[in-house]
Amino acid sequence: MSTSPLENLSQEVTRLLATIESFDSLAALVDAEASIIGKRSALSSLQKSLGSLDPDARRDAGARLQEARRLVDDAFAKRREVLSANARSAQLEQDRIDLGDVVVASIRWPASTGHASLVASTQRELEDVFVSMGFTVSDGPEVESDWYNFEALNIPPAHPARGMWDTFYVELGEPETVVLRTHTSPTQIHLMENAVSSSTLPIHSVMPGRCFRRDTPDARHLATFHQIEGLVVDRGITFADLAGVIETFTRAYFGPDISSRLRPAYFPFTEPSAEFEITCTICRGEGCRTCSQTGWIELGGCGVLDPAVLSAVGIDGEVWSGFAFGFGIDRCAQMRHQIADMRALTENDVRFLEQFS
Ligand code: PHE
Repeated sequence: MSTSPLENLSQEVTRLLATIESFDSLAALVDAEASIIGKRSALSSLQKSLGSLDPDARRDAGARLQEARRLVDDAFAKRREVLSANARSAQLEQDRIDLGDVVVASIRWPASTGHASLVASTQRELEDVFVSMGFTVSDGPEVESDWYNFEALNIPPAHPARGMWDTFYVELGEPETVVLRTHTSPTQIHLMENAVSSSTLPIHSVMPGRCFRRDTPDARHLATFHQIEGLVVDRGITFADLAGVIETFTRAYFGPDISSRLRPAYFPFTEPSAEFEITCTICRGEGCRTCSQTGWIELGGCGVLDPAVLSAVGIDGEVWSGFAFGFGIDRCAQMRHQIADMRALTENDVRFLEQFS
């Protein structure tokens, strides 16, 4: 009885699969391609030997051989994929530049002169965008009385909304009457008071500055941080004007592929109030860890001025209306430059700082 040419087929397949797995370099695998799955392979010789079989036996044997080839081809393709991915990451690792080396190599003492910090230059750029939109730039104090930081903003003592701002108190006068400002909103009050006393309404102004909160710093928060406040008080101002200003600003500063959206929120000094979000610049809206998979990042708050605020500063709410917004300058810098951890802004690591000269 003559033996079938496929007698050892399954051992042959097992051997080929083991051979494929044993390759650990892409080049070696590709070199061996012809002998494993090509014309010179064991399976190809078996194919040729089927010619001597009678038609029925040849059909059966052909089908078994085809299945064996499929197994070996698949294993070969998979191994090639794994090895080329390994080769790619090895190449990337080799091309990686150690920024520490680059910085050290490029310092030429004593010619290095320093430059504005990223936060300072971001503040300047934000001011430029708003000035080009017709806003003026104003300043306000960093130490405020409770009246400016809270009460005039419709947040009376013991109002539950005070919990929104963890406050540093200054030991001056009666306890808890002088604060490090927790936001730039008190500067709105100064501006409105001044405009009333000097009869210079309307107001279209932005107010950048340093703020303080009793917060534990993390990747997206600092205890000492910067905000830019916007205030418009004029005739016939509506929420639509606010939304238009926010969208125009977003595209001007972040670029045309980043847009803004407003989501209902609560602030005691605006009604209606909204949170101001922009397309996440890390994932461009796809969803990632930084934006908690939402595709959006919160920049700040905004809303139409509450009549209680207008009356606190003596502005006639029948004649004038307005809106305000406030958002983080540090957060803007973080989003614009895709900085994973905001604490880098305060750590004075020259390798970080030098990237923004
Ligand atoms: N001051 C608010 C905050 O810091 C933001 C805000 C500003 C909200 C202006 C509405 C209007 O949380």
